[in-house]
Amino acid sequence: MLETLVRRLHMVRLTAAAVAALALMGCTGLIDESGGDGLTTEESAAKQAWLTKAQPVLAEFCVTCHNGSRANIGFVEGDTPIAQRDALVAFAPAVVNLTAPQSSRILTKGIHEGPQLSATQASDILEWIQKEKDARPDDGGGGPILETAQFLPQICVSGSPGSDTCPFNNVALDEIGSPGSTIQFTAQALGSGLYVSNLKLIPGAMGAYLEHPLFVSHPEGAEPMPDTIDRFFSVKMNLEMTATADQQQIAGGTAAFVGFLANAKLTIHFKALKTFQADGGGGGGGGGGTTRSGCQALAAFKTIRTAFTANVGGAANNCNACHGGQNAGATGALNLTGIGSADDAVVLNACNQVLIRVNLTTPDSSGVFLAPDPGSTHPFRYTAAQLNVFKNGPPGTGVLGWINAEKVAP
Ligand code: HEC
Ligand code: HEC
Repeated sequence: MLETLVRRLHMVRLTAAAVAALALMGCTGLIDESGGDGLTTEESAAKQAWLTKAQPVLAEFCVTCHNGSRANIGFVEGDTPIAQRDALVAFAPAVVNLTAPQSSRILTKGIHEGPQLSATQASDILEWIQKEKDARPDDGGGGPILETAQFLPQICVSGSPGSDTCPFNNVALDEIGSPGSTIQFTAQALGSGLYVSNLKLIPGAMGAYLEHPLFVSHPEGAEPMPDTIDRFFSVKMNLEMTATADQQQIAGGTAAFVGFLANAKLTIHFKALKTFQADGGGGGGGGGGTTRSGCQALAAFKTIRTAFTANVGGAANNCNACHGGQNAGATGALNLTGIGSADDAVVLNACNQVLIRVNLTTPDSSGVFLAPDPGSTHPFRYTAAQLNVFKNGPPGTGVLGWINAEKVAP
């Protein structure tokens, strides 16, 4: 996965240069559009891979539930295979990751109400995503990928954030699309990598809009190394200058970048970076999807949130013990960071994350229940009785209480 991503980083630079060169030359007909169907070689290869490898698998095993007949999960909706492909690539929250194909949700989903992909099926779909990525060197966003200049992170050794011994890193976004805005964070060296906290997007006077920030480490004399799990790939933020500190926080505000050296320079890439978008943004290749705008029943969520944080039958036996940032794999799959916060904006973040794992049509089939089911392969499982408490609670504390409130919320 790393290799393909690194290859992509190089390709991105080439592509940006090539775009500039083409712009200078004007349209000279130099672009070789092979195949006679108006597609580039890469586009043809991607289309072939979709039609012969990926689409047949999805059509056989996934389409029945994901064709739009059920709310919120219609990521292969469409009358033709090509329409289905376009829906899949554009679906929000993203299930296909063109920057780090192997981390695509569609591949990593595993058993849920739907089946798990076999290794062969997954590799067929991965082949398509990789080709799709090559066919869209600009990530579908219409323009070169946006990247900050390289900078050496200042390391926090002690003291409180912002003090001399624990300085904020302020990364200016002026030159790449969001004048006056900065990304701010503190960084600590870990044995295994770099621990970033207090991570924020601080908007300038015109506000800030970003999609999909990707941290990349540039160790001296070695290949650039992107965040191995590309954890922010579904992050989209649209802030006015007046945004509160909590709204500025990027995906919980912390991230442990395994393998990043403290003395290596960093860059941050973005899929989209602009000033505040009054229409809510969209663009950037995604957009167009009809997404529910997130949790509507926050009060109900707050009354049941202890279901995710209270220990069951032993110390650290609760969802938040792994999904609250401690375990990167777990937190990447379901991010509960901040669920216990006193601040509603932070809790709302966590609620939105949980909602992604909820099936509002058939609540019993929600990922949050299937994962800890006694029969699942998830690292933590309840007994049937414990699962029942988690779902139904003593009144007021069961997760279903909140889900039912979301169902009827406008
Ligand atoms: C019998 C119905 C059904 C089938 C078949 C099915 N799914 Fe799902 N899928 C669901 C439901 C319900 C949800 C929403 C709840 C959840 O996340 O578990 C969902 C959600 C998802 C999500 C998005 C949510 C996330 O975790 O980010 C992905 C990706 C997914 N399914 C992949 C697949 C794939 C791949 C297949 C085919 C191998 C498939 N599904 C087949 C019912 C189904
Ligand atoms: C011991 C650590 C641990 C605990 C405790 C834990 N999880 Fe997980 N969870 C993981 C890991 C690791 C993953 C990543 C994917 C995997 O291995 O299934 C994950 C993945 C998930 C997923 C995504 C599965 C999917 O469909 O891709 C859901 C949903 C989930 N956990 C829910 C929960 C809930 C709800 C609880 C509490 C009842 C919980 N987890 C407790 C470690 C944990």
